[in-house]
Amino acid sequence: MTDPTHALSFGAAAADYDRFRPRYPVPAVRWALDGVETAARVVDLGAGTGILTRAVLALGHEVLPVEPDPGMRAQLDAATPGVTALAGSAESLPLPDGAADAVLVGQAYHWFDKERAHAEIARVLRPGGTFAPIWNTRDESVGWVARLSRIADLRDTAGNLVEKTTDFGPAFGPVELAEFAHRTTLSPEEVIGMLHTRSYWLTAGPAERERVDRELRELFATHPDLAGRETVELPYKTLVFRARRR
Ligand SMILES: C[S@@+](CC[C@H](N)C(=O)[O-])C[C@H]1O[C@@H](n2cnc3c(N)ncnc32)[C@H](O)[C@@H]1O
Repeated sequence: MTDPTHALSFGAAAADYDRFRPRYPVPAVRWALDGVETAARVVDLGAGTGILTRAVLALGHEVLPVEPDPGMRAQLDAATPGVTALAGSAESLPLPDGAADAVLVGQAYHWFDKERAHAEIARVLRPGGTFAPIWNTRDESVGWVARLSRIADLRDTAGNLVEKTTDFGPAFGPVELAEFAHRTTLSPEEVIGMLHTRSYWLTAGPAERERVDRELRELFATHPDLAGRETVELPYKTLVFRARRR
């Protein structure tokens, strides 16, 4: 199990979370849902403020968002007309057996107790349904992005995720992986605002928060690719893992 203090640290920053965190590119969401017919029933597990929920709704599917944190659920409901997030977790889903054509997870699978979550996700998926954990990772082949990740102690590197996401247990077929490039345009202050929605910063003490912010401002003021810029393009690689329910 991961540290529950970190896993549920996001709720207090829910509005900023919704504002600053990157969206999911449409081709990535389509690939995650491969083989699932239109107007399918899709569970967005660990739905947070609904960033992935709204991307799936835009493709014409029905979405059932499931989220343990009440602050995140309230933000999702407010930002997503016609949808109400369900209270629940990956280890205990408030849904009947075989109810879903697909289960998608945006930026949350690393918090799950894997063995219990795999069994629970397999229970709610119909046979042949798709399970797909998705992550937006910063493209650290860009020098200043790698430096930013070190300052803010961001550990969700693409390499780590690929190494750890290889098997969803006996109820699932082989795991496939695809990668999609995209970028978001933010001002330096918005990048700092986005980093304030990360669990490392949310659970850090005042001195560590002060260090992170000071070094980030220094980076924006002095790095040759950033100094004097009103906005910066933050490059992302979206990693989509998917497997079929047997
Ligand atoms: C980084 S946020 C991602 C939110 C959203 N999916 C997105 O893409 O923006 C991680 C979310 O996972 C939720 N979470 C943490 N542990 C969980 C668990 N065991 N089961 C389901 N969700 C969990 C947190 O409450 C939080 O909303």
